[in-house]
Amino acid sequence: MSHQDRFDELHRRHAEAELAGGEERIRRQHKAGKKTARERLEILLDAGSFSEIDKLVVHQSHDFDMAAQRTPGDGVVTGSGRIHGRPVFVFAQDFTVFGGSLSEAHARKICKIMDLAVKTGAPIIGLNDSGGARIQEGVVSLAGYADVFLRNTLASGVVPQISAIMGPCAGGAVYSPALTDFILMVKNTSYMFVTGPDVIRAVTHEAVSAEDLGGARTHSTTSGVAHFAADSEEECLALIRELMTFLPQNNLEEPPRRPTRDPIDRRDESLQSIVPDQPNKPYDMLDIIRTVLDEHYFFEVHAGFAPNLIVGFGRLGGRPVGIVANQPAHLAGCLDINASLKGARFVRFCDCFNIPLVTFEDVPGFLPGTTQEFGGIIKHGAKLLYAFCEATVPKLTVITRKAYGGAYCVMSSKHIRGDANFAYPTAEIAVMGPEGAVNILYRREAEQAGDPTSFKAEKAREYREMLATPYVAAEHGYIDEVIEPRDTRARLCEVLDLLRSKRDSNPPKKHGNLPL
Ligand code: HXC
Repeated sequence: MSHQDRFDELHRRHAEAELAGGEERIRRQHKAGKKTARERLEILLDAGSFSEIDKLVVHQSHDFDMAAQRTPGDGVVTGSGRIHGRPVFVFAQDFTVFGGSLSEAHARKICKIMDLAVKTGAPIIGLNDSGGARIQEGVVSLAGYADVFLRNTLASGVVPQISAIMGPCAGGAVYSPALTDFILMVKNTSYMFVTGPDVIRAVTHEAVSAEDLGGARTHSTTSGVAHFAADSEEECLALIRELMTFLPQNNLEEPPRRPTRDPIDRRDESLQSIVPDQPNKPYDMLDIIRTVLDEHYFFEVHAGFAPNLIVGFGRLGGRPVGIVANQPAHLAGCLDINASLKGARFVRFCDCFNIPLVTFEDVPGFLPGTTQEFGGIIKHGAKLLYAFCEATVPKLTVITRKAYGGAYCVMSSKHIRGDANFAYPTAEIAVMGPEGAVNILYRREAEQAGDPTSFKAEKAREYREMLATPYVAAEHGYIDEVIEPRDTRARLCEVLDLLRSKRDSNPPKKHGNLPL
C-alpha cells in the first residue's frame, strides 16, 4: 500500500464518520426540526475550535447482525473545544446512528471526555438526543449508563456540568442530565420522562402527549427539572455560551471578570421609590436587581419555575455574582416548596464554584396551607436553610421590606454567616407581621373592646412603629447598615471587593446530610 493509499484510507474513514447515519437519516433529522450533532457543535463552540477524539470508535456487538452495521463514532461525537476562548469538553449524541442510542462503546467515549474534563479542570457540556439504551446490547448498555452516572456524580462540584436536551431523553437515561448542574431544553423537539405516555396509559389510564408529559414547557414550569426552555436549537446553544461567561472552569478557580464601564459608585434615584409605601402592595423585585447590576443586566435562571423566588447571575464591578431574591409580585414573595428547592440548588451551585451570593429579601414567611405541609415544606424549606448555612462564598444581603419569622433566618441572615447585611429604611424585621402579632397578643382585650377593629388597628400601628422596622435588628448588630436604596450598588460593589480575600470553611467531614 502506498502512502497515498494510506492517506486516502484515513480520509475515507473520516468521511464515513462525518456522514454518520447517512443522507436519508440526516434529511429526516432536519425535517424533524433538529440539527445533527456536528452542526450543533459548530454553533456551540468558538469557530474552528472543535477537536474531535474517538471519531473512529465502533461498537463491538455481534448479536442481531450488528457486526454488519458499524458506523465510525457509534452515535456520539466527542472532544474538546472552546467557548469564549476557554476550553470545554463536549459530547453530542447523533440521532442518525441507531437513534443516538447508548452502546458500550458510545458510553466509553462519553466517559473518556468526562475523565479528561475532571483531570484538566474544564466544564463538561452534553448535547442529548437519544433513544436510550442500545436495545441490541442489553445489559452492557445499562452498564455504560451507570459508568456515566458515576462520573456525573464524582464530577459534581469539581467542574460545571451542563446538559442540553435536543431530542428524546427517556427512561433511566434522564438521570445523567439530572445529575448535572443545569438542564436546557428545546421547545417542541425535546422531551424527558422516566416512563413515557404509552406506559402511563397502560398503568394509570392517563392520556398524555410526550410534549405535555415531558416537553420543555412542562419541565421549565411545572416540574422544575429544566432550568431553561429555548425556542430553538440556536437559542439553546447561545444560552449555554452565555451561561458559561459567569462560571469558572472548576472549583479551584474564581469566576471570570468582565471589565465594565458602569461606575461602581453609580447612584440610582429610581430605587428610592421602588418599594411602595403600603406594606402589602406588590412590586417587581427584578427592577431592583437590574438597576443594581452592571449595565442593568440580569441573566435569570429557572425563570418559569417558582416565580416567587428569583435566581440568576449578574455582575457587580465586573465580578459574577449569584442573585437570590424573593419576588413580592408572586405569592407576596412567600417561600414555598418549589421556591425552597429552586433556591437551595442554586445557592449550592454558587457555593461549589466560588460565586458570591447576593440576596434581596422581601419575604412575609413560608406559604401556609395543607398542600405545603403535607408536601413536606419542613424538609424542603430546611434545604434552603442548609444551603445558605453551609455556603462559605461571600454572602451579601439586602432586606428591602419584609423579613419575618423563620424566613428571616433562612434568607442569608447575619446569624448564618452573612458577611454584609443591609436593610432599607422600609425594612420590617420581626417575628411576624403586625396584624398576626396583634391577633395573638391582644385577642382577649380586642374581644372586650367596644370597637375591636379600631382597637386592633391601633395596636397594629403601635407594633409596626416599635418592632416592624430595621432598627431593632440594627441595634443588635444583625443588620450592619441601614442604607438608602439609591446607594445599594455602591455598597454592594465596595463590600464585594473587600470580601475578595474571604476565607471560611466548614468542619472536616465526609459530607453533610442535606435534609432530602
Ligand atoms: C437501538 C434504536 C433505539 C434504541 C431508536 N433506535 N431507539 N436503536 N436502540 N434504543 C433506532 C431505530 O431503530 C431507528 O433506526 C432509528 O433509531 C430512529 O428511530 P425511529 O423510531 O425511527 O425514530 P422516531 O420515530 O423519531 O422515534 C424515536 C424514539 C423511538 C421515540 C426514541 O425510536 C423509540 O421509542 N425508541 C426506543 C426507546 C426505548 O425504549 N429505549 C430504551 C429505553 S430504556 P433506523 O435504522 O430505522 O434509522 C433505557 C434505559 C436506560 O434507555 C437505563 C439507564 C439506567
